[in-house]
Amino acid sequence: MITLGIDIGGSGIKGALVDTEKGEMVTDRVRIPTPQPSKPQAVIGVIKQIVDHFAYSGPIGVGIPCIVINGVTLSAANIDDEWIGFAAQQAMSEATGCPVILGNDADVAGLAEMRFGAGRGQMGTVMIFTLGTGIGSAVFVNGRIVPNTELGHVYLRNQKKDAEAYAAERIRDEKNLSWKQWGKRLNTYFQHMEFLFSPELFIIGGGISKQHAEFLPYIKTRAPMVPAELRNEAGIVGAAVLAAESS
Ligand code: BGC
Repeated sequence: MITLGIDIGGSGIKGALVDTEKGEMVTDRVRIPTPQPSKPQAVIGVIKQIVDHFAYSGPIGVGIPCIVINGVTLSAANIDDEWIGFAAQQAMSEATGCPVILGNDADVAGLAEMRFGAGRGQMGTVMIFTLGTGIGSAVFVNGRIVPNTELGHVYLRNQKKDAEAYAAERIRDEKNLSWKQWGKRLNTYFQHMEFLFSPELFIIGGGISKQHAEFLPYIKTRAPMVPAELRNEAGIVGAAVLAAESS
């Protein structure tokens, strides 16, 4: 099925048509900067623009950096607070005239990696992390997701802030951290994740994952840690897969 997948990020909103059986984008990716402030109506306007760009009608999958329960967004980190308690899925459906299926951005990226990427066929506990404006997490147990984990928001010992405010890609950028400095922060974070969950496999996604050779060597976990195979496309592909499977 050819389905539109959209990934709402802290800096850009990206969309493409996806072949959901193959897990591949079949068009170029459109990217529109995330409106600032990223209030629901402005963001939904961009979604509508992407739908119009592809002259698309059909189910649409959307990933968003919020806890999503029954189509309602219940948290807002790296996105405007107006999303908290907002019936986002319904508003997106009404604006586009298409059925929309909404999921957490990291959860849908994780779904794509489990289905078509580095997590294919992996049993046990698999943890996928996206490193970007924030840190997103997706946890799968024997192929089934534990949805809406927000593991970028744990506190690390001696840090009086969320882990993502210490170790996200954005922090590397803003603080001009060397790969080694950033790698050490990631090492602290992932060793803590491993202590808490003892997964069989870690998968690292987000745009920066294409430069994995620069920072993965600093992360020492017992479980193997591999880059996402779909890289930054996982969010778009996973959103489309979610929509295709829900319709
Ligand atoms: C949000 C998550 C999201 C992650 C990655 C975090 O700040 O709380 O919902 O998955 O960023 O975008």
